[in-house]
Amino acid sequence: MTEGVQPRAAQQAPPWWKSAVLYQIYPRSFADSNADGTGDLQGVIDHLEYLQWLGVDGIWLSPITVSPNADWGYDVADYCAVQPDLGTMATFENLVAAADERHIRVLLDIVPNHTSEEHPWFVSSSSSTTDPRRDWYVWADPKPDGTAPNNWVSSFGGPAWTLDPRTGQYYLHNHLSEQPDLNWWNDGVRAEFDKIFRFWFDRGVAGFRIDVCNVIVKDAGLRDNPPATEDDDFEAQLFGQRFVYNGNRPEVHDVIRGWRRLAESYDVARVLVGETPVKVDTMVQYYGDGSDELHLAFNFPFITAPFAAASMRRIVEDTEALLPPGAWPAWTGSNHDMSRFASRWADGDLRKARAALLMLLCLRGTPVLYQGDEIGLCNATVEKDDLRDPLGVRYWPAYAGRDAMRTPMPWRDVPGGGFTDPGTRPWLPLGPFGGCNVEAQRSDPESMLTLARDLIALRRLSPALQTGSYQTMAAPEGVWAWRRGSGVVVALNMNDHGVTLEGTRGHIWVGTDRARDGEDFDNRLTLRGWEAVVAGTT
Ligand code: NOJ
Repeated sequence: MTEGVQPRAAQQAPPWWKSAVLYQIYPRSFADSNADGTGDLQGVIDHLEYLQWLGVDGIWLSPITVSPNADWGYDVADYCAVQPDLGTMATFENLVAAADERHIRVLLDIVPNHTSEEHPWFVSSSSSTTDPRRDWYVWADPKPDGTAPNNWVSSFGGPAWTLDPRTGQYYLHNHLSEQPDLNWWNDGVRAEFDKIFRFWFDRGVAGFRIDVCNVIVKDAGLRDNPPATEDDDFEAQLFGQRFVYNGNRPEVHDVIRGWRRLAESYDVARVLVGETPVKVDTMVQYYGDGSDELHLAFNFPFITAPFAAASMRRIVEDTEALLPPGAWPAWTGSNHDMSRFASRWADGDLRKARAALLMLLCLRGTPVLYQGDEIGLCNATVEKDDLRDPLGVRYWPAYAGRDAMRTPMPWRDVPGGGFTDPGTRPWLPLGPFGGCNVEAQRSDPESMLTLARDLIALRRLSPALQTGSYQTMAAPEGVWAWRRGSGVVVALNMNDHGVTLEGTRGHIWVGTDRARDGEDFDNRLTLRGWEAVVAGTT
């Protein structure tokens, strides 16, 4: 047998999520099936046909579990029941079954760092210092002068500690005071989350997106964070301290390894997608040795990078270089916290938005689209009186919060946007969306939606695009070009002016200017300003 070639039977097929396109659904804003102004699980079921048509392989639903909604589902009061205004467990089971029929897997969001203050665990824990669940949360005595136990600040601003007058101790919350942090040093907490993971995995859930999975374990000694220095990143400077002891502790990796073992014990193995809002060199650590921690980790430096060739390329190259062997990147441009890429990267310029979409779908890794990305939806304008996000309410007008990227999905150009009934007030306003709606774009061969669908279909047909290696190509200033495997070239002209890329011959498969699909090029590939193509090379 030729060296290095394995007999067919011994080759392992790559897991499904490596060649998949994932799609994030923010259920409250996706589709409202019962005209109460709030999107729901039946609304997702009703649009599975669309998602299958688009070609996505898996959907990740932002939290659907019971919550008083201090942070819109990210404050969980029951991890194993469905939030009533989103549906019932039966609706959820129908969703998993109906999605399965369309070959779409369902991932859920899990929030292990904190619960709602209304979770029965916290109600019990806060009832007395001797309660059996006291140690399930992070409680500490005040300093002798009565102030908080240490200097930690919440990532939502303000102190990370709130005094509980009843028991005289402070509890920790890395987010809102309504979101007390669990104590991941406690074995009971760990065992309970194993049960919760199994609960959903046993119901056919294909995996979890794990909320702020990097911060769940805190320094056991609750040491003060060091002050920020001039060299620190923007976030540290904003908060005046480096987040050293209230997150990214070495012990968190034991927890993630345990979850990975649990996920792998299923047939088909469940997938763990971590929210890791950290620099690339820290993010890659959450992949462990490449096979024993997260399957996918969100790359925040990529999301927040300026949409320019040098900066995007550097982050992708760094990620490729630093990932442990076997680890697989995830690429995303938008989510319910970080604004929409059609605004952040493209500033409403459709040429840039189309190039960004092509980039996301042609890098080596799993693309995760956020609902609306595929139609080039921009952030909406949400007036003060319509704000729902507690951060917008708290910090307006300095910071308007995250509602602008959470507004309902525009399905049709009618009152209510096809999201809800024309006479119903949606939970967040739709904002003017005009032609940026699914119906208008679905039948338009030139639309962003058609581009998204065609690129996704192309990935299916091209093993090189699915799993081929990434290699940067030499390119003129402001152009980012790379090879996938040996036979595919992707080029983005991130200049306003035209350029020519030399030294490659081939055939344009899909271009952001659809008139160029099918065009051959021989040694000279010309691209207009903000034009991008994916091509087969000859
Ligand atoms: C990250 C979630 O994406 C965000 O929406 C939430 O507010 C925080 N984690 C706290 O759970």
